[in-house]
Amino acid sequence: MAKSMDEIVALCRRRGLIFQSSEIYGGINGFWDYGPLGARLKRNLKQAWWNDLVEHPPDGPDGRPLSIVPVESTIIMNPRVWEASGHVAGFNDPMVDCRETKKRYRADHLLVLFARSAGAGAAFFEGDEESRGRARKALKKRLGGEPEASDLDELPLPDLDAERRARVLGPDASEPGTLTEPRAFNLMFETYVGAVRDEDAKAYLRPETAQGIFVNFRNVLDSTRVKVPFGIAQIGKAFRNEVTPRNFTFRSREFEQMEVEFFIVPPERAAGDELDAAGWYRYWRENRYAWWQAMGLAGDNLRLRAHDSDELAHYAREGAGTSDVEYRFPFTDPDFGELEGIAHRTNYDLRQHAETSGMGDKFAYFDAERNERYFPHVIEPSAGADRGTLALICEAFTPDESRSSGVYMDFAPRVAPIKAAVYPLVNKQGMPEKAQALYDRLRRRFAVELDVKQSIGKRYARMDEAGTPYCFTVDGQSLEDDTVTVRERNTQDQQRISIDRVEAFLAERIQ
Ligand code: GAP
Repeated sequence: MAKSMDEIVALCRRRGLIFQSSEIYGGINGFWDYGPLGARLKRNLKQAWWNDLVEHPPDGPDGRPLSIVPVESTIIMNPRVWEASGHVAGFNDPMVDCRETKKRYRADHLLVLFARSAGAGAAFFEGDEESRGRARKALKKRLGGEPEASDLDELPLPDLDAERRARVLGPDASEPGTLTEPRAFNLMFETYVGAVRDEDAKAYLRPETAQGIFVNFRNVLDSTRVKVPFGIAQIGKAFRNEVTPRNFTFRSREFEQMEVEFFIVPPERAAGDELDAAGWYRYWRENRYAWWQAMGLAGDNLRLRAHDSDELAHYAREGAGTSDVEYRFPFTDPDFGELEGIAHRTNYDLRQHAETSGMGDKFAYFDAERNERYFPHVIEPSAGADRGTLALICEAFTPDESRSSGVYMDFAPRVAPIKAAVYPLVNKQGMPEKAQALYDRLRRRFAVELDVKQSIGKRYARMDEAGTPYCFTVDGQSLEDDTVTVRERNTQDQQRISIDRVEAFLAERIQ
């Protein structure tokens, strides 16, 4: 059964996963907050990334652990960073305005249902069935009847010439012809540093964390013993003034990235037995796909897709390419949405910063073994923490009519916000004290909850919605033989284990 995004969003709000930012003031489009459960879920995902790449990096192709070091750079940097990276000149999306509603849309996110014979069309959001339905209805009204399927085209808005665009109804408009010609719109948020608000004080909120890594390349070389191949990793906020923030947190204006820039020998210098850029690119594609599977996105809803040549970013065109790890969200279904891009960025960024900063070859890497200086190439796995969290939520959401909650969240134990709950069956007869003692023991090591209120069924239902994998219940028998029941979330099966075994039981299943 298809999962309903409306139900997922409602659960996120009800159970404190995700709230609208500044909700009491009507919210602000494209900004989201995480509640008590969501903040933990997202942190667990980031922590898993950090553990698996920085603290315990994976084995490289030669079986030895990769060398990856972290940095934490600022959100606001010298604006020349963005001139060098190409973001000031090129970080643009084509957008159209609606003269009637004053709304602004990404032109490449709009499709038009166009009735050829009548020369009339209605625009809708790509991949949004509801919006397509509205466009069809509006077209039917304008034509005075259902259009013939053979007379209908579905065209990308930017492909329409001015004459046909003038006959198109905007997605939220009441009259046709209100959409402007697509124009480039820079996605960087601007701000001013210091007291004077003039051009010299202008700065940007970073649109990607990657550049904070590139500009620190020399600093990292000079302060550590890293040798090519090595990676620099960073988790941090990024900001993009998206024209049409949509689909819950999927396209936000403030979001968090988890990026590695992995520096390798340029392809033309790779020795015979050395892994070349194409090999490293394949290595990272497989590694990152497997990692998302391990986070619980293991089924058909996850895929790895190589970009077509016309999709490649400016820095990837001369390289080995770009692939995306994609997830089939309920709102993209049957299509997929990007969670992470793995790109061969060549040495474009390092060369740009060397040139723009005036550091030239001093910014390059000195390879002692080869006795030569060069700008390493880069393979970049760049993931979104918010999109990842949203994918975990969508994947975990499991409707189940047989439960009083109607649903349970099937989070992998490693990312589950709460690992276990501890309950006294009833709040008397020595059970609360025993449950409290067990809770006190567990909470030092795990995110656990103690709950004594309501019936045991209601308490289980709460934890099903929170995606808590295990519930330990102290009952009458516990007082006699020091055992508890363990209820497993997905199967709802219960077994008895000794209280002394509870900590080890959790540890074996959570890591
Ligand atoms: N440094 C490369 C880079 O930034 P990107 O494909 O633009 O590449 C990487 O972004 C990841 O950041 C995406 O795969 C996605 O997960 C996340 N991301 C990008 N824009 C986003 C947005 N508006 N809202 C939420 N996440 C976004």
